[in-house]
Amino acid sequence: MEKGKTVSQSAVRDQTAVVFPNDLNAYGTLYGGRVLEIADRLAGVVAKRHSGKVCVTLGIDSVRFLGPARGGDILVFQASVNRVWHTSMEIGMKIFTEDYKTLERKHILSAYFTFVGLDDHLKPSMIRPVIPETADEKRRFEQAEKRRVMRIK
Ligand SMILES: CC(C)(COP(=O)(O)OP(=O)(O)OC[C@H]1O[C@@H](n2cnc3c(N)ncnc32)[C@H](O)[C@@H]1OP(=O)(O)O)[C@@H](O)C(=O)NCCC(=O)NCCS
Repeated sequence: MEKGKTVSQSAVRDQTAVVFPNDLNAYGTLYGGRVLEIADRLAGVVAKRHSGKVCVTLGIDSVRFLGPARGGDILVFQASVNRVWHTSMEIGMKIFTEDYKTLERKHILSAYFTFVGLDDHLKPSMIRPVIPETADEKRRFEQAEKRRVMRIK
């Protein structure tokens, strides 16, 4: 078994993007499919950094759009590995809007991504363990097991 990596070694912290007109839906707010696409790519970066392998998205769940974003808004993405099992891992994603004058942040989306690491033959392959260090990382690690049980059910 490969040596574990800490959560912070692969986490994406404060990745920013600006909402452009082609990111909006017919009602002038951020299109959910667009933001999920960006989030899936970033979660894929975390998965690759952690595992050192080709990784594919197995599923996305508990997607919650908690508030809107509008053209010109700054989006801030945060993503990190919550837990690794054998060949799969859960990556948690949080997205905020940030007011560029006050730097105040509003939480607009949360989701969990399950990625599977693949070997050279594109078969599921063992992923190194993750080492949670902070209280939040340890809490997410514990809660991830309950979510996996629900998914597999
Ligand atoms: C991901 C993929 C390779 C998995 O193949 P598979 O034959 O189902 O593999 P396995 O049965 O060995 O399962 C792989 C892992 O997924 C987990 N898994 C399977 N179903 C699951 C579910 N519903 N929820 C959570 N985990 C699940 C398994 O428990 C296993 O994890 P573990 O080894 O950590 O226990 C295959 O489903 C695939 O190629 N899917 C398409 C991926 C894709 O194209 N994504 C979009 C573009 S990136």
